Amino acid sequence: MYRTEDIVAEYGVTKEDLNRFMESSSISMVNEEGEISEKDFQLVLQFIENKEDRIREKLKGEVADYENRGRRITIFQDDVISFLEKIPSNSVDIITTDPAYSGMNNKLNLGKGRIVGKYSEKGKENGKWFSEFEDSEENYTRFLNECKRVLKKSTGHIYIMFDSYSLLSLGNIVRNYFDVKNLITWDKVNIGMGHYFRRRHEYIVFATNGNTRKIRNRKFPDVWRFKRIHNSAYPTQKPVEVFQAMIHASAEDGFTVCDPFLGSGSSAIAAIKNNCNFIGCDISNKSIEVSTSRIEEFLKNSKDILQKKSMAVEEKKFWE
Ligand SMILES: C[S@@+](CC[C@H](N)C(=O)[O-])C[C@H]1O[C@@H](n2cnc3c(N)ncnc32)[C@H](O)[C@@H]1O
Repeated sequence: MYRTEDIVAEYGVTKEDLNRFMESSSISMVNEEGEISEKDFQLVLQFIENKEDRIREKLKGEVADYENRGRRITIFQDDVISFLEKIPSNSVDIITTDPAYSGMNNKLNLGKGRIVGKYSEKGKENGKWFSEFEDSEENYTRFLNECKRVLKKSTGHIYIMFDSYSLLSLGNIVRNYFDVKNLITWDKVNIGMGHYFRRRHEYIVFATNGNTRKIRNRKFPDVWRFKRIHNSAYPTQKPVEVFQAMIHASAEDGFTVCDPFLGSGSSAIAAIKNNCNFIGCDISNKSIEVSTSRIEEFLKNSKDILQKKSMAVEEKKFWE
């Protein structure tokens, strides 16, 4: 016999998820101690291990803005916290994400909660505007707390992108939640903006949710050289190769990758290229519009309509 309370504590499934599953499978307790039979325990175990079904079970009733059931790609227009709260505990294998930080603009005195894009295009249909995640310590802590909860215990990997300012102000908080293993530098090859030294790089913090699972092999350097995307259809669009490197290092076929700051969908394209399932969200209309048509087209014709050529400059293809 197995006590449901112990199952919740041991396997990281929430009480609500477990109850919902038991109800839908007509599993009932066999005594007042809250125990279930061995046979039913095996069913519960299958449910817990089949994390994708668990994700779907929990999301039942939530209307996705895009869903491809066959390829297991699901996208929501939502706020990062409210989206992550809908995902069951201990169910996601990898988080790869590139948050919209307001810190950089605040430090540059460009105003609070500023928006990326050209002022002249604000609010216009084709305007390159989206709101930024208010990266106060409190919000960031809530974000990391939710990432920790949804990520699989011991085997989960997380990659979080940072600009220099947000790394200094928020990067250390990541260590309260995860075991930080690397600080990767993404070298964009060509020089960008900057009042003093002009920016050519961003950072990616790589961390594990517990200590156990390594990456694919030991051939990955911690400096990645991929050119930035110019004249992108979506502001801050990142090269797919950046996400490919993260996912290729950490994933096996059928893993579930999550990106709650989806933008143009580069992480989703990288997940598909690595035969992974994908679940993501973004708060902006434009992101959902752009990313879902990009994903649809890629699934149909293997064509990436937003990044026509590789941004790689190195011969050694550690990212694929
Ligand atoms: C830096 S961009 C991501 C770009 C993406 N990696 C790509 O390659 O296109 C950050 C995204 O976060 C979204 N965002 C801002 N605040 C958010 C929030 N509270 N919840 C979810 N998404 C948010 C923005 O709309 C934007 O698309």
